[in-house]
Formats: sequence, C-alpha cells, structure tokens
Amino acid sequence: MEKITFPNGFIWGVATSAYQIEGAWNEDGKGPSIWDTFTHTPGKIVNNEIADVSVDHYHRYKEDVGLMKELGLDAYRFSVAWSRIIPDGTGPINPAGLDFYDNLVDELLKKEIEPYVCLFHYDLPQALQDKGGWPNRDTALAFAEYARVVAERLSDRVKVWFTHNEPWVTAAAGYFDGSHAPGVKDPVATFKAMHHLLLSHGLAAGAIRAAARQAVKIGITLNLNPVHPATGSKKDHDAALRMDAILNRAMLDPLLKGTTPLQEFAVGRLLSGSLIKPGDLEVIRTLDLLGVNYYTRTVVKNDPKFPVVAAVQVQPEGNEYSGMWEIYPQGIHELLLRIWKDYSPTCEIMVTENGVPVPDGLDFDGRVRDERRIRYLKNHLFQVHRAIEDGVPVRGYFHWSLMDNFEWALGYGPRFGLIYVDYATLQRSVKDSGRWFAKVIADDGFEF
Ligand code: FCB
Repeated sequence: MEKITFPNGFIWGVATSAYQIEGAWNEDGKGPSIWDTFTHTPGKIVNNEIADVSVDHYHRYKEDVGLMKELGLDAYRFSVAWSRIIPDGTGPINPAGLDFYDNLVDELLKKEIEPYVCLFHYDLPQALQDKGGWPNRDTALAFAEYARVVAERLSDRVKVWFTHNEPWVTAAAGYFDGSHAPGVKDPVATFKAMHHLLLSHGLAAGAIRAAARQAVKIGITLNLNPVHPATGSKKDHDAALRMDAILNRAMLDPLLKGTTPLQEFAVGRLLSGSLIKPGDLEVIRTLDLLGVNYYTRTVVKNDPKFPVVAAVQVQPEGNEYSGMWEIYPQGIHELLLRIWKDYSPTCEIMVTENGVPVPDGLDFDGRVRDERRIRYLKNHLFQVHRAIEDGVPVRGYFHWSLMDNFEWALGYGPRFGLIYVDYATLQRSVKDSGRWFAKVIADDGFEF
C-alpha cells in the first residue's frame, strides 16, 4: 500500500449541469431551450424520458448544497440555463432566473463552497436555434451579451467562470450525428458551430472581464480523449491522427496556439474563407483555466465511408467497460502530459469532469455499495496524481457528478452520482463512493 497525497490547496469538487438536474423547465419565466424541445419530441431519448422535473434541484438546491457540505467539497461547478436569464436568447432579461442563481451562489458561499459557474452546457434557447443556432455567427454575439448579464449580477461573488462545457460535443452531437439537441445531421453546420462556439468563448471572456467586479478567471472545459489506432497499420495510424485533429486539436489549437486544424479537412477548406474571419483566432485565444473532462480513450480504424474523418471508432478487447465506455484510467495521465508537452499552457489546468455510469441501487439497509465507482475513482485519481508527479500542475479534480441525473439521450439509465437519487420520491442517499470521496477530500489523498 502506498499513500497518495495531493498538493496543498488541491481543489476538490463535483460538477452538474442545469438541464440535467434543475427541472422547473417552464417555471418563473424560463423560456424553452433546445433540450426541452428535443426531449418533448418522441423517439429522441431512450424510453422517451424527459427532464421537466428531473431531480428537482431548482426547488431542492438548499438540500443539495447541504449534501455538498457533508461531502466536504471545496468547489461546485454548475451551469446556468441561458433561457432562464434571457428567455428568448436575446432581448428582455428575466429577473427571477437571475435570482435563482444568485440564491444558489449565496447558499454555496454560506457553506464555504466556491461556486464555479459555467455559462453553457448544451441548452441553447430554442428561439436562437430558430434563427440558425450555433452555425449562425450571431449566436456568438448573443452569447457574449448573456455572459455580460450574468457576470454583472454574480461577479461580485463568483471568481471562476467557464464559458462552455464541451463545445465539441455541442457541435458534434448537436449538428453532426444529431444524437443531441437540436438533432441536426450536417457536416457543414458542424464546422460552423465549432468555430462560432469558440468565437463565443473569446467574446464572452471579454464581456465577463469588462463587467467583472473583481479579478476573475476565465475557463473552458473540453472533452478530450487520447486517440489510439486499432492496429499498427499506417492507415489506422493516419486515421488516429485525423480523429485527434477533429476531436482534440480542433479545440486546443485555437485556444492555446491561435491556429486551427479545420483546413486539414475538405469541409474546413471549403469554408475557411467565409467562416473564420480576420481577427477571430486572436479573439478565441484567451484562457486562464483549462478544464479537462476525461471519461475514456478513442480507438479508431481507417474507414473511407465515414464522413469527414474517414475513421471509425472501435471497442478494443481486454479492458473493463461501463454502461457507456471503455474504462481506461491511464488515458487521463497520457492526456494531461500531452497537453503539457504539446501546448506548454500558461493557464491553470484542472480535471473538471471524470466519472462512471455503473449499475447501482439501494440495498436493504439504505446503503448503496457502489464498489466499482470507488475502484474507478481510485484508479483515475492515481493517474492524475502521477501526472502531477510528472510535472503537470493539475490544480483540482471535479467528479461527475454530484448526484444521479438525466444523462441526455440516454435518459435516466446511466447513474453517475456520488449521491443516489430515487427517481420516484427524489430522495437523495449518499453512496459508498460519496463517503469514500469525502474521506479523500478530508485527507487530501488515499491509500492505493
Ligand atoms: C459529459 C457531459 C456531462 C455528462 C457526462 C457523463 O460529456 O459534459 O453533461 O453527460 O459527460
């Protein structure tokens, strides 16, 4: 047994997102988002599940912050629902929407938990999708204005601001394979969305800094996966490079280097003149904090039939799988080192999401013995610690998620929480993994 100890001041947190936990989908003046529309359309979500109520965090936030306190968390990353603040995406502000997040921030600070605000986690106001959504450049301008409004209200207390959660997923799942709202399947729209999401990051960063009442940090959280070839062949090796370009570099290069790999793809070449305007890349390249969301790696083989990347993902043998992905803990070490080596970032780095959906449930005595999640946590934290020892200054780790919630197209099946939620009664119960994580936080480490 070895004692793994994290550096002094390491930040321990959890993450959630508005649509996945809040419910209250049309209360207190909130406008509809693309996720309300999508889930209300039959055939889009497993079992046609919806999140009109979800785990009702909107009404139970005080109880939830109390549970966070019990776990001993330093910080909580949550997202703001744009259509609660500005119901039509642009135009009149809804004061009740701002009040909700204002109260949440106060409640967190009362319990000495640092609020990490994320401005966008997939739930675009429907009114903006009706005008073209992220493929429309105007959406980036609207986002900056929304960011200003929220910053004006909360920046006296909130110091850490994430513009986007996983913009790559917003673009790829929303506009390429259509598995997420708004359910569009169009490679051209996808490339446009990718660029405008990044542009909106830069514009919002400027708006937040200008409105801020104190020194703030501007971050973004990216889904990043090491990409490995399925075989040793040259074709699969090249396929992995293409997948890496579209999956990782398409976000990292503009943010950290001021360049873009989009022209390496035919769609990108077709668009480059009209899409990326002079000055855009300078606007995008601004970052105080890079959030890394890590769940799995991507293994690919060459496949000319697959659009854009001509590569397809395969599921290798030999490792454990969860309900959604291959479990590959060493990938988080590889990824953190790669970012450090390839980009020499001057911004801070944190793990802003990591977690696993494994079947779990209440035992007769009210406990949830989710041993597999504890094992997952141990193995991943061990690899994060290794990355720190190897010289990457990782500042914190946020587990996905605080509690079980609505997992997008997969509905309520996958349970990611450290806290179990009984979806019939909405009762919360801390799982064994939650208690284990609380001890890690208290000790700043664990025995491995
Ligand atoms: C991430 C998302 C988050 C959740 C987890 C499992 O990609 O940011 O909302 O769906 O995956």
